[in-house]
Amino acid sequence: MRILVLGGDGYLGWPTALHLSRRGHDVGVVDNFVRRQYDFEMGVDSLVPITQLQHRVRRWEEVSGLSIDTFVGDLTDPEFVDRLFERFEPDAIVHFAEQRSAPYSMIDRQHAVYTQVNNVVGTMNLLYAIAERNPAIHLVKLGTMGEYGTPNIDIEEGFIEITHKGRTDVMPYPKQPGSFYHLSKVHDSHNIQFACRIWGLRATDLNQGIVYGHETDETTMHPDLATRFDYDGVFGTVLNRFCVQAVVEHPLSVYGKGGQTRGMLDIRDTLACVELALLNPAGEGEFRVFNQFTESFSVQQMAEMVAAAYPDTVKIDHVDDPRVEKEEHYYRAAHTKLLDLGLVPHLLETSTIRSLLAVVDRYRHRIDMEAISPTVKWRSTASALRTTAGLTAG
Ligand SMILES: NC(=O)c1ccc[n+]([C@@H]2O[C@H](COP(=O)([O-])OP(=O)(O)OC[C@H]3O[C@@H](n4cnc5c(N)ncnc54)[C@H](O)[C@@H]3O)[C@@H](O)[C@H]2O)c1
Repeated sequence: MRILVLGGDGYLGWPTALHLSRRGHDVGVVDNFVRRQYDFEMGVDSLVPITQLQHRVRRWEEVSGLSIDTFVGDLTDPEFVDRLFERFEPDAIVHFAEQRSAPYSMIDRQHAVYTQVNNVVGTMNLLYAIAERNPAIHLVKLGTMGEYGTPNIDIEEGFIEITHKGRTDVMPYPKQPGSFYHLSKVHDSHNIQFACRIWGLRATDLNQGIVYGHETDETTMHPDLATRFDYDGVFGTVLNRFCVQAVVEHPLSVYGKGGQTRGMLDIRDTLACVELALLNPAGEGEFRVFNQFTESFSVQQMAEMVAAAYPDTVKIDHVDDPRVEKEEHYYRAAHTKLLDLGLVPHLLETSTIRSLLAVVDRYRHRIDMEAISPTVKWRSTASALRTTAGLTAG
């Protein structure tokens, strides 16, 4: 297959591009490097150093003998998207290229608007390009389990059968997202579903859980092929943060009561799920939703697992929750469609946490402890960033 990986310079896009390349597909990577720009804005950096995209691609060619095309541009620019389709002619597109941090989207009005414009407009440009150039292209789009929120009933896989006043229909599952970022994903889902209905497009919306892990079979082939490792208060994910805190002997900071429960998966399973979706494409006019996670854990459970995996004693602290979310709640979400397609999950075992702790230990000299504290407060319409405090106009 000819596959475009949008956002292919990011945490998940890069290892996915390598994996698909090694599996014999012709891969093109697209990115505008805005993720690297957010690091400059926040004054933070990936814990594990990452090389430039062009350098990574050359290194991949050296170690694997396989080539990957690169396209540098912004998906919100329709002319760029058009040229991209003209030059690459994809059979399938994996779309990772969005602003993906909930805290980033909640910094202030500017960051909320940026997130929604970037994510929604980029996806709209893609939908038009697919419809105009080749409606048979299969769009595999990364959504999030956060689209559903935490309802007090079971979460289904995209759709729910509802009986109302004696009549029954299957409808999109109700969405109660928890940030302007998560809302952008809901808007995307609606736009994609509509495009499938009116233009007969084929799309798979992967409602992904929180991804953990850093190494894949391909990224470990050379240090220059490493992907990002984010642990800061804005882009870092919770397990990474706990591993960093454990290594520097800082108490693990659980937000609020720690009963917030989320679906999670290993980065190697992200690669496997995307590949399964590509190999089993949606039909003409079909909008499918797969819940892409393998296990769910509460934040408190994750802290306890990291503490248990670390050889020395680790303290767990509870700090004020900067987010507006239920700190204890019911959580049960269906996730059978990818298992039915053959997914064999890597579950979160002590050995996985120890391998993450080993990565952190290797780069402990790069840890910036000041970057870890949460600075973005959901209840406030504007939070000051440590890098911009005193610099902003007005
Ligand atoms: N990482 C997770 O735990 C997780 C969980 C659920 C869903 N997701 C989704 O998966 C996708 C990838 O996540 P990630 O962690 O790899 O994020 P990431 O920020 O590391 O990667 C996204 C990439 O897209 C690029 N990008 C963003 N906007 C772009 C635009 N307009 N044009 C071109 N390129 C653009 C960025 O520069 C970046 O390299 C996102 O859509 C995210 O919402 C991630």
